[in-house]
Amino acid sequence: MQKTTIRAGSNIAFIKYWGVADAAINLPLSNSISMTLDNAHTTTTVEWVERGLERDEIILDGKRLENAAAARLTDHLDRLRAVAGADYRARVMSVNNFPMASGIASSASGFAALTVAGVRALGLELDATRLSALARRGSGSASRSLFAGFVEWERGADDATSIARQLYPPAHWDLRDVVVVVSSAPKHVSSAGGHTLAATSPLNQGRVTSAEAGLSQVRAAIRTRDIDRLGPVIEQDALAMHSVMMTSTPSLLYWQPGTLEVLQAVRAWREFDRLPAYFTIDAGPNVHLICEADTVTPLLERLSALACVKRTIVSGPGPAPYAVDEHLF
Ligand code: PMV
Repeated sequence: MQKTTIRAGSNIAFIKYWGVADAAINLPLSNSISMTLDNAHTTTTVEWVERGLERDEIILDGKRLENAAAARLTDHLDRLRAVAGADYRARVMSVNNFPMASGIASSASGFAALTVAGVRALGLELDATRLSALARRGSGSASRSLFAGFVEWERGADDATSIARQLYPPAHWDLRDVVVVVSSAPKHVSSAGGHTLAATSPLNQGRVTSAEAGLSQVRAAIRTRDIDRLGPVIEQDALAMHSVMMTSTPSLLYWQPGTLEVLQAVRAWREFDRLPAYFTIDAGPNVHLICEADTVTPLLERLSALACVKRTIVSGPGPAPYAVDEHLF
């Protein structure tokens, strides 16, 4: 067993994962498609200890996690222990290069990095498909962060078949995700809690049907590198997902005034300035603007004039999780 450090990118979904068919294994209601991000990542060091530690020690962005806060990670370490048939305790240290409340999914990069680092530190060799299924158990979207570039997570029928795979490598298309942070307040309902509420919305079945129709359009738009074909589909899917959220019981309303201001602005820039940028939104108030690389500069210029914009984070298509020589402890 060897101390191991892995860096994994977060990802932004073009067709979202929202709602679970089986919450115990994070089996989704439909496929989803995402881009892995090169400038929003988690770095995680794992060391397994045979004796002398009573419980797992987990430090996240400099803070030691105790009890309930540690439980989701300890549960995931249990899954890794089960694969190895071992009873070791773990020392885990993890850092994000982006603020947790920035609207970038730290659970995707976090569980991808923890899975790969934990498995390798156990001395096990699992392929990316198996690692993707394991990461999914920690956080559904983490299954997609096991692969570089453009990725599809197949719904599947059970634990072994609900896995992600690469559609295209990063070099296929120089796309950008410009995260527009309009609020850094922590969200009151995590996505993990929200997935189980989707079924309470009268709009849920309609959103699943339209997401399924959107998949082939998104695949085709990525294949032909066509931003004006991709854009309308991702905007519709994000709005459909938020409609489900808003009409769940209890209702989830993630938007802030700044969210709507950015949505209106980007549509106006498209219409009046011919600026090809399109929005998507995860389970939070911040907006992700998707565009090609040469649109980033004029887009950032316009965003800097909006009072609601606190900061921006720009990412391109990123790599699969990779080993880092410098350990965090
Ligand atoms: O993996 P989770 O449980 O954090 O869910 C992710 C949900 C969304 O970010 C809203 C959509 C997605 O597909 O990433």
